[in-house]
Amino acid sequence: MTAEDQPLLRVRGLEKVFPVKKGIMRRTVAQVRAVDGVSFDVGKGEILGLVGESGSGKSTTGRLILRLIEPTAGSVELEGQDVRALRGEELRKTRRDMQMVFQDPYSSLDPLATVADVVGEPFQVHFKMTRKERDNKVVELLEQVGMGSHHLRRFPAAFSGGQRQRIAVARALALEPKLIIADEPVSALDMSTQSQVVNLLLDLQERLGVAFLFIAHDLSIVHHASRRIAVMYLGAIVEVGDAEEVYARPRHPYSEALISAIPVPDPQAERDRTRIVLKGDPPSPLNPPSGCRYHTRCAYAMEICNTVDPEPTPTVNGGTVSCHLHTSGPMLNGRPISQSLRNTSG
Ligand SMILES: Nc1ncnc2c1ncn2[C@@H]1O[C@H](COP(=O)(O)OP(=O)(O)OP(=O)(O)O)[C@@H](O)[C@H]1O
Ligand code: SF4
Ligand SMILES: [Mg+2]
Repeated sequence: MTAEDQPLLRVRGLEKVFPVKKGIMRRTVAQVRAVDGVSFDVGKGEILGLVGESGSGKSTTGRLILRLIEPTAGSVELEGQDVRALRGEELRKTRRDMQMVFQDPYSSLDPLATVADVVGEPFQVHFKMTRKERDNKVVELLEQVGMGSHHLRRFPAAFSGGQRQRIAVARALALEPKLIIADEPVSALDMSTQSQVVNLLLDLQERLGVAFLFIAHDLSIVHHASRRIAVMYLGAIVEVGDAEEVYARPRHPYSEALISAIPVPDPQAERDRTRIVLKGDPPSPLNPPSGCRYHTRCAYAMEICNTVDPEPTPTVNGGTVSCHLHTSGPMLNGRPISQSLRNTSG
């Protein structure tokens, strides 16, 4: 593979097992399989949406990529560089190339630091710039995120949630990263502010060519922002594909249920449509189900699903789905189950 066609980020077989310790001796009594063999790519300047219910392992995946926590297994490559093998100055440089924006703009900004301090800190830490040089850079960054220079000496308390998130994005942009991992960046905001911040990310992607891993539990938001979507369930990616394609024709029963839960703006259409109700809470990652991890909640579950974990199967446009309905293995009436039970084209 040449440098030209390699993805910006390449994640393969990523795993994180958290030990659960008890007692004075801190004995390991159980293990949480938070991320359980996750693989995906993010292209240069691409926005990839990562969706799934609470506890599915989205934030842990983001933190593993940035090496804020160490993986149990698997690899993370940024432009072909194995991030896990980096040490010292090389690791610091790669960390500059990947930044994170967090969900809660109220707790992620230091209340006692001005905008100039918050956004300008990376320039002080990495380049030892003078205050004047830093302020000039901060004003440029504030403009990038649609805020004026008059905000420079104000404190976070003076801003709305949407403005705070813009400040957090400005700070993430300071070192001209190639990838921003945005972990639920709009979940704490009201609806109209959500779309403004999503539009800001789209604008930055277009103007600066920065790539995003956009983490959210709301598929409707991710679908607007991303060209591709990865759907995560109980530590694993169960479907990846073109955003429009996944949204219009979800292959995996879990993606189908998530999409079915999104309200339709037209009241008549909303009344007429059939909803797939997700049964109960997801199983605990302390004790994930055997076979297909979704089988305890799946309306299409078959015998094989109890024991055999489905492998990712290619769909259209380079997507994949991990479900026995889409493998050519199990047959019904002489045809693959994917064709017999469901009307799909992948
Ligand atoms: N440090 C930790 N120690 C033990 N378990 C952890 C730790 N961090 C996360 N987990 C567990 O790992 C699983 C995945 O957590 P994670 O925060 O990645 O999920 P998430 O998809 O980001 O959820 P949410 O939408 O609520 O943010 C959860 O069961 C969580 O309880
Ligand atoms: S493999 Fe079986 S249980 Fe899993 S999603 Fe597909 S049909 Fe449902
Ligand atoms: Mg999270």
